[in-house]
Amino acid sequence: MPAAKVRKAVFPAAGLGTRFLPATKAQPKEMLPLVDKPIIQYGVEEAVHSGIRNIIMVTGRGKSAIEDHFDVSFELENLLESRHKKDLLKIVRQVSDLIDVSYIRQKEALGLGHAVLRSKELVGPEPFAVILADDVIDAETPCVRQLLDIYEFFSAPVLAVMEVPKEAISAYGCIDAEPVAHNGSKDKVYRIRDLVEKPKAADAPSNLAIIGRYILTPDIFESIAAVEPGSGGEIQLTDSLRLQLRSRPIYAFKFEGKRYDAGDKLGFLKATVEFALLRHDLGGPFREYLKSLKL
Ligand code: G1P
Repeated sequence: MPAAKVRKAVFPAAGLGTRFLPATKAQPKEMLPLVDKPIIQYGVEEAVHSGIRNIIMVTGRGKSAIEDHFDVSFELENLLESRHKKDLLKIVRQVSDLIDVSYIRQKEALGLGHAVLRSKELVGPEPFAVILADDVIDAETPCVRQLLDIYEFFSAPVLAVMEVPKEAISAYGCIDAEPVAHNGSKDKVYRIRDLVEKPKAADAPSNLAIIGRYILTPDIFESIAAVEPGSGGEIQLTDSLRLQLRSRPIYAFKFEGKRYDAGDKLGFLKATVEFALLRHDLGGPFREYLKSLKL
């Protein structure tokens, strides 16, 4: 039987964004712009380009700018129309036309697993993607699309992973896994043996870190509901997957593409610079400017 189609993507977006204070005192971190697009829009566009149009945002207090951003803005559209700003009008409309979006609140920030559990009713009994917008991934084939291909082949949950330096692994979920030959390659797909959230470098089973893209099956909700708080006293998605692993195989995929941690100041700056360099309208003059900075 073919794997059920993935139609929905969940975006946990209730975090407080303390790493970006004071910029995030009155605006959500997901709305900080990389060049001229909010961080979260990169994730939403990745979902759309992967064939997923139903977006579920798990938000919290002070996140209404996200809702406004993905809504129609009549005043702005009227103004742009009256001023014949067709290109800008297209850019503004594209955002609201892209998706069908629903919102659910996570009243307390009790962890990633808890955030995903909040989406249970909206997801229903079908597989779904989870996208952590802080992880911005620049890839020829969108990362979620890459994961969907693996999901469709194995009919099983799939997580995105990448190799990180051993000393950095304690910032991530980490997998213990065996490679599985797939499509002529032997070091991209892994069958997970075990996984652990934010291990100490010395205890980490590998240097394969979980990156914020997951294709999950609806039975994950039972596992989330059953786990105790873990790392940081939070309900962790990694711990829930560990429990789910007792009843079904779970795979990991070393995706192609470059990942930026836009939730971290240095990562955010790197993404800003590199995305600006890639832009047709800005890349040339920006490159010249950077060269002129005798670094
Ligand atoms: C979350 C997950 C972690 C994963 C990371 C990727 O952690 O819990 O397993 O490696 O995202 O960005 P966070 O960065 O939210 O602490």
